[in-house]
Amino acid sequence: MLDKERIPRHVAIIMDGNGRWATKHGVPRLAGHNAGMKAMKEIVKRSHELGVQHLTVYAFSTENWKRSAEEVSGIFGLLVTYVESELREISENNVRIRIMGDTDALPEKALKAVNKAINNTAGNTGLQFNIALNYGGREEIRRAAAELAEEAKAGRIDPDAITDEDISRRLFTGEDHAGCGDPDVIIRTSGEERLSNFLLWQCAYSEFVFVDDLWPDFTPERYEEALEIYQNRNRRYGGRTPEKKG
Ligand code: IPE
Ligand code: IPE
Ligand code: MG
Repeated sequence: MLDKERIPRHVAIIMDGNGRWATKHGVPRLAGHNAGMKAMKEIVKRSHELGVQHLTVYAFSTENWKRSAEEVSGIFGLLVTYVESELREISENNVRIRIMGDTDALPEKALKAVNKAINNTAGNTGLQFNIALNYGGREEIRRAAAELAEEAKAGRIDPDAITDEDISRRLFTGEDHAGCGDPDVIIRTSGEERLSNFLLWQCAYSEFVFVDDLWPDFTPERYEEALEIYQNRNRRYGGRTPEKKG
């Protein structure tokens, strides 16, 4: 049983398997992405109910531009539809939406929709729902490094004094951006066991849970099972296993 007293603060999810779900059902890939949006909606809802503070989902990577123009524009189109149809309910649930990634490159309509979602939910204090869009782990580290180099060049920062915190703060998860910090657990669906450029810096001590379900099949019940697997892990951070009392 899931222990409701020990819900992770920050859950990150690599929502993978929409394409294979579509193939399995003999429907176009976009229908798979649409089914994926529906699954996402339910996971946001359950996260809110469970009291998760941060839910971060990988929706579109910096590498996903390699796909056909039709698929890419279809994915962003679905995102706009999602925001339009769900924003009111999201807001009523006190959910705050934030975006992680380089939004400058997004299609104009998608950018408008995400900005609206960010602005309309800015005052909400419940679940923070971070959507990684045009997100790449290496790209965010590169940006942070470039920023620090600029500051060093301008004499505002001493290279010898740069801390982990100086880097973390400048990442999309950092205080200067979404402010969600490192994930406690990263869940990936569809049976693949890799990060695909997701949260490379932040995953240093995250627990990984890989499940075989294709993303559209990932129900809130399966989500709770994944969180239960996380709860059964022993996080040591390089230290010793705490000894059992008794
Ligand atoms: C994840 O599903 C959604 C995105 C990457 C946008 P995929 O589209 O990668 O599905 P598979 O991996 O091809 O099954
Ligand atoms: C990772 O899935 C990106 C998202 C889920 C948005 P991909 O399907 O793009 O990853 P690879 O290509 O299998 O590594
Ligand atoms: Mg995939």
